[in-house]
Amino acid sequence: MGESIIPLADLRYAAAVPRVPAVAEPANGLLADRLGRPLHDLRISVTDRCNFRCSYCMPKEVFDSSYKFLPQTSLLSFEEITRSARLFVAHGVTKLRLTGGEPLLRKHVEVLIGMLAGLRSVAGEPLDITLTTNGSLLQRKAEALRAAGLRRVTVSLDALDDSIFRRMNDVDFPVADVLSGIDAALRAGLAPIKINMVVKRGTNDDEIVPLARHVRERYGPAVILRFIEYMDVGASNGWRMDEVLPSAEVVQRLSAEFPLEPLDPNASGETAERWRYRDGGGEIGVISSVTRAFCSDCNRARLSTEGKLFLCLFASRGHDLRALLRGDYSDEQIAGAIGLIWRDRDDRYSELRGALGADPGSGERRVEMHYIGG
Ligand code: GTP
Ligand code: 5AD
Ligand code: SF4
Ligand code: SF4
Repeated sequence: MGESIIPLADLRYAAAVPRVPAVAEPANGLLADRLGRPLHDLRISVTDRCNFRCSYCMPKEVFDSSYKFLPQTSLLSFEEITRSARLFVAHGVTKLRLTGGEPLLRKHVEVLIGMLAGLRSVAGEPLDITLTTNGSLLQRKAEALRAAGLRRVTVSLDALDDSIFRRMNDVDFPVADVLSGIDAALRAGLAPIKINMVVKRGTNDDEIVPLARHVRERYGPAVILRFIEYMDVGASNGWRMDEVLPSAEVVQRLSAEFPLEPLDPNASGETAERWRYRDGGGEIGVISSVTRAFCSDCNRARLSTEGKLFLCLFASRGHDLRALLRGDYSDEQIAGAIGLIWRDRDDRYSELRGALGADPGSGERRVEMHYIGG
């Protein structure tokens, strides 16, 4: 393929080339969007590929052998990712999350982690660097990730029962291997570990109590289990409201077994509401994107695998940062462009969806979760 040809997969989502301000306001860590929300969290997708085919994210019928994933030349290099992260950090970002697809499929991802671990926040502190993984490669990679500077991990795990788990990942992957991955991450000191379970009514809601029991008994407070409402993200998963199990019901079912009490948030803009077992067995969280949207203090920006900046998980359009990274622009100019984009942000999809009871979108194709990360 010639250099001037843009791969088709790159054109899947519209992205305008950002405006570079003639005189940029210097980044001072105090950026706020149109709704007054700061920028704290940068989620970086390092690959759009995954070895699982969870039906709520990458259903097999769509993501089959003919699906065109991004070609290698489209991906941001580690240098480009690190430069971008540094510019976001100057605007106030203190937390970096690597996502995918499955981020551990990106070759030498630990080298990238090492590079990101060298960055410092505006206050001069090391960053909170974490990663969302399906756990399949964790057993092999936990030590190297920790050595490279990763602080903690979040593992997706939708069932404890092997047959339900195999059905949900849809590639017949055994749950025992993910559980061994979690053990390896704990041994490597990647703590606290969070486990994320997407709950689909009728598919895995019977696993809520068994998984909670397993985590309490095996790990106690060292692992935080979080239950996520199944979301209408992307355009491929055939989402239906009747498959959403509201978090309130999750808390009710758990409390009947293990009494719970609410905890205060750790920080503003958190996705999860926190609860703790009254008997000291640890903490759980519920993420209620559908029944209790948390857009009002959403401080998350997302950078796609090929360098498009998205301001919301439900966006259809991105901002083509890669065009600036690969153009003749200084750090100040690109930071200035990021500043303009964030100041103009007014996204609050989940809140609007809740208020309207319907999709408030533009009708354009929304980004997929495997592409933008969870
Ligand atoms: P911690 O710092 O570990 O608490 O991470 P986090 O909760 O910010 O991130 P994580 O990737 O663990 O998020 C868990 C899940 O929450 C994701 O997989 C999504 O399903 C959902 N989620 C995360 N961020 C957003 C968001 O901005 N909007 C919506 N609607 N859902 C989100
Ligand atoms: N609803 C909720 N969470 C989702 N994820 C992916 N698709 C969905 C969806 N439709 C999240 C899960 C998973 C992570 C990789 O992305 O948290 O663990
Ligand atoms: Fe499943 Fe995560 Fe892979 Fe999506 S990216 S298919 S949720 S393992
Ligand atoms: Fe943030 Fe968009 Fe999620 Fe609302 S729906 S919390 S604005 S990413």
